Amino acid sequence: MADKEGEKHVEEGKIPLLTPYKMGKFELSHRVVLAPLTRQRSFGNVPQPHAILYYSQRTTKEGLLIAEATGVSDTAQGYPETPGIWTKEQVEAWKPIVDAVHEKGGIFFCQIWHVGRVSNTGFQPNGQAPISSTEKEIFPQLRSNGIDVAQFSPPRKLTTEEIPLVVNDFRVAARNAIEAGFDGIEIHGAHGYLIEQFMKDQVNDRTDQYGGSLQNRCRFALEIVEAVVNEIGPDRVGIRLSPFTEFMGAGDSNPKALGLYMVESLNKYQIIYCHMVEPRWKVEGENVESPHSLEPMRKAFNGTFISAGGYEMEDGNTAVAENRTDLVAYGRLFLANPDLPKRFEIRAPLNKYIRETFYTHHPVTGYTDYPFHETKV
Ligand SMILES: Cc1cc2nc3c(=O)[nH]c(=O)nc-3n(C[C@H](O)[C@H](O)[C@H](O)COP(=O)(O)O)c2cc1C
Repeated sequence: MADKEGEKHVEEGKIPLLTPYKMGKFELSHRVVLAPLTRQRSFGNVPQPHAILYYSQRTTKEGLLIAEATGVSDTAQGYPETPGIWTKEQVEAWKPIVDAVHEKGGIFFCQIWHVGRVSNTGFQPNGQAPISSTEKEIFPQLRSNGIDVAQFSPPRKLTTEEIPLVVNDFRVAARNAIEAGFDGIEIHGAHGYLIEQFMKDQVNDRTDQYGGSLQNRCRFALEIVEAVVNEIGPDRVGIRLSPFTEFMGAGDSNPKALGLYMVESLNKYQIIYCHMVEPRWKVEGENVESPHSLEPMRKAFNGTFISAGGYEMEDGNTAVAENRTDLVAYGRLFLANPDLPKRFEIRAPLNKYIRETFYTHHPVTGYTDYPFHETKV
């Protein structure tokens, strides 16, 4: 199987997920990526020392890790105890975590995030309304731990003049991530958060240059890409997109056209990767049948393609072997198995994830206490 550069895609006889891959300047030793996972253990929006162990447990030499969604400003939060990267204190707090990953030879990208209307006044400075592309509010939603129901406040529609300020928050956050030592950033353009609130036609009801046509709806996302690329360079910028998901009331009438328009536009900026969520991951928590596929986007995108959403070992191997993706990001399996690539290698049984502790705030339980596989001697 040949890849886009005409190189051999996977060496014969090897486990496809465990073959090396060159992502821009980064030589990855395997293709099993830690997906971004919100864990809500960053008290007061400041990353905590217990994250050092959590991330270093999941680090392999030349393996790629994507940090949990990290707020770009004081209006970016919608969940308790999520980390930020807009203050000096937060940047300093990330440094020992990033250092620990680097000490074990990992490559670490920071996912930068603004929730937009997926918030309520309790998370906002001075109890103000959350910001969005729209004034339409979201109905209460069951969170993916299957327990909590999140409540949202009616958002305030950003004025046209305010939008460049939010773009600038992403630029500064990217700069801060590099200052903290991260190898790059992933723009969170998925799952119904602020960027998707602009991209998707079931949310965006604007009449200015940021609403209406597909080009206009994608303008905000692409202005962020451009600003961040100009700030830290395209070889350190990735983006996560989920055109097919309908989380947080964010669906689109033509997700394939949206996905294709985005990847074709991203090619102009030569960013390092595009990370896409599988159509089967349409509603959170389970795979569903979908007539769609990421293949048109994978084919149209010139950089590294990462797929995520409901993967197990076998279908990850097949996706790589068939050249349907370059890398596979694992969320829940990696959360529960700190040594996931090793377990894939030796076909060890996997720990089961515990939904109830996904978002609890304990610094150990459900966080760093998932056992490593013990090889019998
Ligand atoms: C506990 C938890 C937290 C998550 N947090 C994030 C996040 O911060 N950013 C993001 O883009 N996706 C997030 N996701 C989605 C995952 O990155 C991943 O795409 C999803 O779990 C599907 O992959 P999986 O089947 O391998 O778990 C989260 C998922 C879970 C279960």
